[in-house]
Amino acid sequence: MSSIKIFSGSSNRPLFEKVCEHLELTPGQMTVEKFPDGESFCRIEEDVRGKDVFIVQPTCRPVNDTLMELLVIIDSIRRASAARITAVVPYFGYARQDRKDEGRVPISAKLCANLLECAGANRVVAVDLHSAQIQGFFDIPLDHLSASPILDSYILELGYSPEEVVVVSPDAGSIKRATKHVTTLGGNLAIIDKRRHSGSEVEQAHIIGGPIEGRVAFLFDDMISTGGSICGAARVVKNKGAKKVIVAATHGVLCGPAIERLVEAPIDQVFLTDTIPLLPEHRIEKIKVVSVARVLADAIKCIHENRSISQMLSRMGSTGQYF
Ligand code: R5P
Repeated sequence: MSSIKIFSGSSNRPLFEKVCEHLELTPGQMTVEKFPDGESFCRIEEDVRGKDVFIVQPTCRPVNDTLMELLVIIDSIRRASAARITAVVPYFGYARQDRKDEGRVPISAKLCANLLECAGANRVVAVDLHSAQIQGFFDIPLDHLSASPILDSYILELGYSPEEVVVVSPDAGSIKRATKHVTTLGGNLAIIDKRRHSGSEVEQAHIIGGPIEGRVAFLFDDMISTGGSICGAARVVKNKGAKKVIVAATHGVLCGPAIERLVEAPIDQVFLTDTIPLLPEHRIEKIKVVSVARVLADAIKCIHENRSISQMLSRMGSTGQYF
């Protein structure tokens, strides 16, 4: 691992430090600052010439700042003659703007992919992209990791038998994810008919599949943003007679009324990963955070050693548990 260097901006230092611990690597030295007018600046404080460099930086809140910070870090490392730069972006912001669904709107996810490439990234590692098709927005290799095995390993520890379980997809877009969880956790599949009216308003009334009554309902989503989708879905399954509602999502975007909604919703527990750091006001009793650091560290090791990541992923998939 002598030719490897690992850096991070300011967006998720706790996750970065855990990744470094797993890899037994010293965090790369870098100064990250803001100019008085808000412009991002960084200076790499050690030699990276000819090195295999990894930058761990989710583009989470404040999204524009963390994205720009990532871009200037990549640029400075490229100009410092690194041999290869891998942007490890556990949460890829702007991912929901992935298509033109009305006239005269941007495809911002594609723009962000272009920006990363243009800055000098040679590879990207991402976790649970909002849609798998975003991989095609990049013309460089992208390793798409999943937090599902880690979430499942914690959920299996709760000890529910498959007969008690129903796995609920909160919308049509999450059906594939939900079916994978059914394979690991057992139980039946149910799908909520979700109609989105605006960025923060959704309507969920009907449910397909089940049964729900008397079951422990597990709701999986890629992210909880304003909490509208997951809390609405939780109400639907509770009204249908679920005895418990447990939610798991990879990215805790948690903006606007999310925490208030999660507190009030008929949800017993929420599992989130640490792709996005929780703010102090997000620390409520029902939220449990599980770490993706080990998956990221192993992916980084595979990439550095030119070993197959898909083999690592398939091992995880077949056992349903990572550890
Ligand atoms: C939707 O397609 C996504 O998978 C999430 O369900 C959604 O983005 C979450 O947003 P919110 O928490 O604001 O409903």
